Amino acid sequence: MFEQIHANHVYRCLVNGQWKETSAHSPIEIFGPADHTQVGFIQSFSKDDVDEAFQAAKAAQKKWAETPISVRAQILHRCADLMEEYEDEIAAILSVEISKDIASAKSEVHRTADFIHFTADEGKHIEGEMVGADHFPGFNKRRFSIVTRVPLGVVLAISPFNYPVNLSASKVAPALMAGNSVVLKPPTSGSISALYMSEIFRAGGIPDGVLNTVTGLGSEIGDYLVKHPLVDFVSFTGSTSVGKHIAKQVGMIPLLMELGGKDAAIVLEDADLDETARDIVSGAYSYSGQRCTAVKRVLVIDSVADELIAKLKEKVEALKVGMPHEDVQVTPLINTKAADFVQELIDDALTKGAELLCGNKREGNLIYPTLFDKVTTDMRLAWEEPFGPVLPVIRIKNAEEGIDIANRSEYGLQSSVFTKNIDSAFNIANQLDVGTVHLNNKTERGPDHFPFLGVKSSGMGTQGIRYSIEAMSRPKVIVVNLEK
Ligand code: NAP
Ligand code: G3P
Repeated sequence: MFEQIHANHVYRCLVNGQWKETSAHSPIEIFGPADHTQVGFIQSFSKDDVDEAFQAAKAAQKKWAETPISVRAQILHRCADLMEEYEDEIAAILSVEISKDIASAKSEVHRTADFIHFTADEGKHIEGEMVGADHFPGFNKRRFSIVTRVPLGVVLAISPFNYPVNLSASKVAPALMAGNSVVLKPPTSGSISALYMSEIFRAGGIPDGVLNTVTGLGSEIGDYLVKHPLVDFVSFTGSTSVGKHIAKQVGMIPLLMELGGKDAAIVLEDADLDETARDIVSGAYSYSGQRCTAVKRVLVIDSVADELIAKLKEKVEALKVGMPHEDVQVTPLINTKAADFVQELIDDALTKGAELLCGNKREGNLIYPTLFDKVTTDMRLAWEEPFGPVLPVIRIKNAEEGIDIANRSEYGLQSSVFTKNIDSAFNIANQLDVGTVHLNNKTERGPDHFPFLGVKSSGMGTQGIRYSIEAMSRPKVIVVNLEK
């Protein structure tokens, strides 16, 4: 199905069922972060091109909403089948484009196909309700209401670099099942993978105009996109700073936002330290820590800290580091700016007296997995999201101190609690100011039909298959009035 990826190819955007090239601006060069080789070029869309995409989406939406839900579901199942069929090809592109190790890239594509299948099934069960007969006190007229769910119109989906396929599809599929049309703006690093995903949706039978893509730098076209008069809903995943900026721009357009995190793993005295260490290391370092849900700090009771840290260190040192096509867990970060930022946090912790246990070695954008003990709350690493392979351990006196430090974060995505005591687990979970608490597991998203949300600076609104379909639709109420 796909043209072979080659360095001079200029990837076009899907607009109204056609692959469109803009003449307005020169294309943007895309480099593979691992070795800085040129991967291809993407379009830098102008305002006129963006208008065309929105107009196509607007024109196609009504007919799509009137398409029987079983037909919409069939088309999505076909798209998911194609995604499975082309898993290896898409994973290979992903791996080169965003430097994701090949096993994680395959898993992203596989999980996306699964997500689309599940969404197609779930969408068939989103039904309305009848709210029973009642009347205002003192009035005779009885009334009941028939409530159906209707689409919002045109959904603008903006996805981040770390899951350009999965976090694009997890907006597109629920939006489509709810009867919306979509304009997708993928991340610049990750655009090529997302355009391949769009080709899957086109080939699977999504009608012309129902899914459109626009590429270009968010810093250049972002404001024009989010303020576009044809946008009815914005679904955004990315950094807190861009999310806050978008929230200021959009005015009364409803928003779903999943943003940054600083997920804490709280470890109590009675935790199974072998399993805890295994979960924390996999949670903190997979895809080099470039996951919103990565474990980003460990808060461990002092009496078991030495033992836990010894186990963590052993596992971190065993992580395989290398290039994305190899069988490794830690690969070069997405760009030099990201690697410089991680290095800044490492340097700050070192200057302020944290104990380096391993890592702090850098080759270009490749940061070796880094583990710190004795991180204190005056260090940036205690609060800032590195989005890289560095994990701070903060020693705490008791669970209360852990809860306090966890909750003092500006973020509120997820937390973990490791303990064998079910009462402690629930007590702590109840006090943590986050969207999700995992008991005896690393922080992570999913399974995808579970609600996924962040509070405070980690987001607004709830994703998850049914939750996303509901967020991208609204109740429509018809009230029937009866004379007595
Ligand atoms: P980002 O820089 O915020 O970019 C996200 C998306 O927004 C990209 O498509 C980007 O386009 C676009 N964008 C940039 N400026 C924009 C603007 N002014 N208006 C509209 N769109 C704009 O984030 P990222 O670096 O891709 O991803 C890393 C961050 O995302 C981390 O903070 C991470 O925690 C967070 N994240 C959160 C979740 C979650 O579910 N909570 C999931 C994944 C990632 P360009 O690529 O062209 O700049
Ligand atoms: O959307 C959040 C993403 O960054 C992490 O997802 O599946 O790796 O926990 P996951």
